[in-house]
Amino acid sequence: MSDAIEPKPGILEIAPYKGGDSHAEGVADVVKLSSNENPFGPPEGARDALRKTAHLLHRYPDGGHGDLRRAIGEVNGLDPERIICGAGSDEIISMLCQAYTGPGTEVIHTEHGFAMYRISAMASGATPVEVPEHERKVDVDAILDACTFRTKLVFLANPANPTGTMIGANEVGRLAADLPPHTLLVLDGAYAEYVDGYDGGARLVEKRDNVVMTRTFSKIYGLGGLRVGWAYGPAHVVDVLNRVRGPFNLGSAQLAAAEAAVRDTEFVDRSRAENARLRAWLARALAELGVPSDTSCANFVLARFDSVEEAEACEAHLRQNGLLVRKVGGYKLPNCLRITVGDEASCRRVVHTIARFKDAAA
Ligand SMILES: Cc1ncc(COP(=O)(O)O)c(C=O)c1O
Repeated sequence: MSDAIEPKPGILEIAPYKGGDSHAEGVADVVKLSSNENPFGPPEGARDALRKTAHLLHRYPDGGHGDLRRAIGEVNGLDPERIICGAGSDEIISMLCQAYTGPGTEVIHTEHGFAMYRISAMASGATPVEVPEHERKVDVDAILDACTFRTKLVFLANPANPTGTMIGANEVGRLAADLPPHTLLVLDGAYAEYVDGYDGGARLVEKRDNVVMTRTFSKIYGLGGLRVGWAYGPAHVVDVLNRVRGPFNLGSAQLAAAEAAVRDTEFVDRSRAENARLRAWLARALAELGVPSDTSCANFVLARFDSVEEAEACEAHLRQNGLLVRKVGGYKLPNCLRITVGDEASCRRVVHTIARFKDAAA
């Protein structure tokens, strides 16, 4: 027996998650466009609600998240009993892996899929299985072909990060219907609110017992710093997740601010409309500079450059000019940069700075 303190097999093979940068060496005034945050911040009501929790900090929070679940349910037309909340959707992803996977099981994610699927699978001892996409779009048949008797979870972000692409409800429904009976489909709706009229897959969850939807307060609600996410699933899945969930995984400030935020549907509508307007402008302006992108359904644009070298040089140029965007080589997209749709001034600055970069290279 070894006398060294060692983690479980596989843990040291995990490449730690790398978040978007928020500082640039030698630049005081940066614009952060690297983490898909809402440039308008959170709704005012969320700030007020958070302040009001200050006098309650000596009390444990409501471990059942009752008020927040009811608010999410009312606003989205969902059964609160089938909602579970976590410290960001990251925690929900982790709980799903913890509860359903382990050594000898497989977790499917797609080629350019969100990094936490792989990390959480490996942390649980499961084997992550990467499935090819088609031109940066999820390929349902490729996922179905990759399923084995070991496949416990399939993670699918729709819209996807970092590509911004989306597949239609019919395709998602076909995937859910054709999965093996022992496989749970996790529909990650982190960017669902950016798609007008889209329910993130909630109705599919209600029709089936093998689909769970995850959502977050970190993107359109502007609360990334607080860490609140939630899931909507079949009763049997919610029951399982509640067994692995920490008893007080969300603090009272998180609960209060998220509840106020979810009730401010006007804020969400305004953020969605402004994002759509500026995203279209940004994508068109970049295309005119010779930097194409796929039609994005989220709050970012995946800008494609002619080469890896050009993408890296452009990222460095943006950084020198105080604009932080995301390199996505780790997502197998080394010739691309993911640029969050900021406010109008930031979008204009990005285009102006990339135009100067292209001029200098010409
Ligand atoms: C697709 C996707 N899922 C989940 C998350 C996790 O979000 P959070 O843990 O902040 O809710 C992110 C964050 O970037 C994401 O892009």
